[in-house]
Amino acid sequence: MSNCLLCGSILHTFMSFGKMPVANGFLLPKQFEEEYYFNLGVAFCHRCQMVQLTELVERERMFHENYAYFSSTSTYMANHFSQLAQNVIDRYLNSPAPFVLEIGSNDGIMLQHFMNSGIRHLGVEPSSNVAQVAIGQGVETISDFFDDDLASEIARDYGQIDVILATNVMCHIPDLHSVLVGVKLLLKPKGIFIFEDPYWGDIINKNSYDQIYDEHVFYFSLASISYLIQQYDLELIDIEPQAVHGGSMRYTVAHQGEYSVSDSVTFQRENEIAMQLDQLSTYNTFKRNVEKSASELKALLYKIRSKGERVVGYGATSKSTTVINYCGITPDLVEFISDTTPIKQGKFSPGAHIPIRSHVEFEENYPDYALLFAWNHAAEIMEKEEKFRDFGGKWIFYVPNLEVRS
Ligand code: SAH
Ligand code: TYD
Repeated sequence: MSNCLLCGSILHTFMSFGKMPVANGFLLPKQFEEEYYFNLGVAFCHRCQMVQLTELVERERMFHENYAYFSSTSTYMANHFSQLAQNVIDRYLNSPAPFVLEIGSNDGIMLQHFMNSGIRHLGVEPSSNVAQVAIGQGVETISDFFDDDLASEIARDYGQIDVILATNVMCHIPDLHSVLVGVKLLLKPKGIFIFEDPYWGDIINKNSYDQIYDEHVFYFSLASISYLIQQYDLELIDIEPQAVHGGSMRYTVAHQGEYSVSDSVTFQRENEIAMQLDQLSTYNTFKRNVEKSASELKALLYKIRSKGERVVGYGATSKSTTVINYCGITPDLVEFISDTTPIKQGKFSPGAHIPIRSHVEFEENYPDYALLFAWNHAAEIMEKEEKFRDFGGKWIFYVPNLEVRS
C-alpha cells in the first residue's frame, strides 16, 4: 500500500499494467540485457482526488542527454504553441518589460515565439540534448530540473515573472509542492501561471490508457488541481479544454483574489461530478474497459498475421510502450514502427524490442495495416498519408474503440 504524493493519505490502487520499461527508453541490442523495468500501477486518492502512479522511476533515468521526445516533430503542436504564445502576448504581457518563464521548454517550440517578438524569456529544461536545440536557436535556457531551489536562484538572478508556462510537464514532476512554492515565489502580484496537461476525464472517456506511463506521474482533474493550488494561496481563474494530446486541460492560475474567476471553472466542477471522477465504480469500469480493449487489439493482430498480412506501427510514441508491453505485442505481430524522430530510428522499442525505422521505409514498402500509435496526431497524419490509403492500406485505431479504417 502506498501513500498519496500530494496529501499523504492511503491510496486505492485500481489498475496494474505489470512490468514496464522506461517509455522513452529506445535502445540498441547491446543494451537489452541491462534494460530497466518497474511496476506500472495507477491509484486514486479518496482525499485529494489525485490519480497517480504507485511506483516512480528516478527522474534521471527519464530526462537526460539522450531524451527522445522532441516537441517540434509535430506541426500541429507547433501551431498550438504558437497560438498559445500569441494569446499570452496579447492578454498578459502589457507591462513595460515583460518576462516569461517556461518550465519544461524542450526544444524551444513555444519560447521561440517570445524570443522572436523581442520578449525577455527563460526556459528550464533538464534534458540537455533538447535544451541544446533551443539554445542553438537563441532561446535562453537553463538545463536543470525546476524546483523551489532553482526558483529562488531565478528570482535572485532575473527577478519576478509576468507569465509562467508549463505544458505537459507538471504531470511529470512528483514533488508538485516544490513546484508550487517556486511558482508562488516567482510570480509578480498580477502574474499568471498557465499549465496544460492530459486531462483525466478524457482518459476515462476515451479509454486512452496508453497515457499511463512512467513520465506521467499524475493524471489531473479540476478537483485535484484545486486541492493543490489553494494550499499556496493561488486561485484557478480559468480552465479551457484542449484537443491536443488526445484531450488536455489548460489551467490558468493567479494569486488569490487578483482576477475574477471564469464561469468555466464552475461549469467543469459540475462536469466532473457528473462524470463521477470521485467514485470507485468509475475506476473499476475503466479497468474492465482497458482489459477488453487490450484483448481485442491483440486478437485483431493475431487474425491479420494468420492471413500473412503485414502490420507496421505508426509513431514510436511514449504511449505505445504501455500498449505494446501490456498487450504483449511482439515483432512477430508488428514488423517495425515508423517514426520521423532521428534519435529513435535504428533503435528498438522499450521492452518488446520492435525495430524503429524511418518514414522512408514505411513509404518504400507499404504494409497492409498501419497501427496508429500516434492516434493523438491522427488529423495531421491522415492528411499526409493519402498515398497509403490510395495503395489500399488500412489504419488500425484503438482509441476510443478498436476500429479499422480504409
Ligand atoms: N513542454 C513541451 C515538452 C513536454 S515533454 C511540450 O509540451 O511539448 C516534458 C519535458 O519536461 C521534457 O522535455 C523533460 O525533460 C522536462 N522536464 C521533466 N521534469 C522537469 C522538471 N522538473 N523541470 C523542468 N522540466 C522538466
Ligand atoms: P506524441 O504522441 O506527441 O507523444 P508521446 O511520446 O508523448 O506519446 O509522439 C509522436 C511521435 O510520433 C513522435 O515520436 C513523432 C512521431 N510522429 C511521426 O512519426 N509522424 C508524424 O507525422 C507525427 C505527427 C509524429
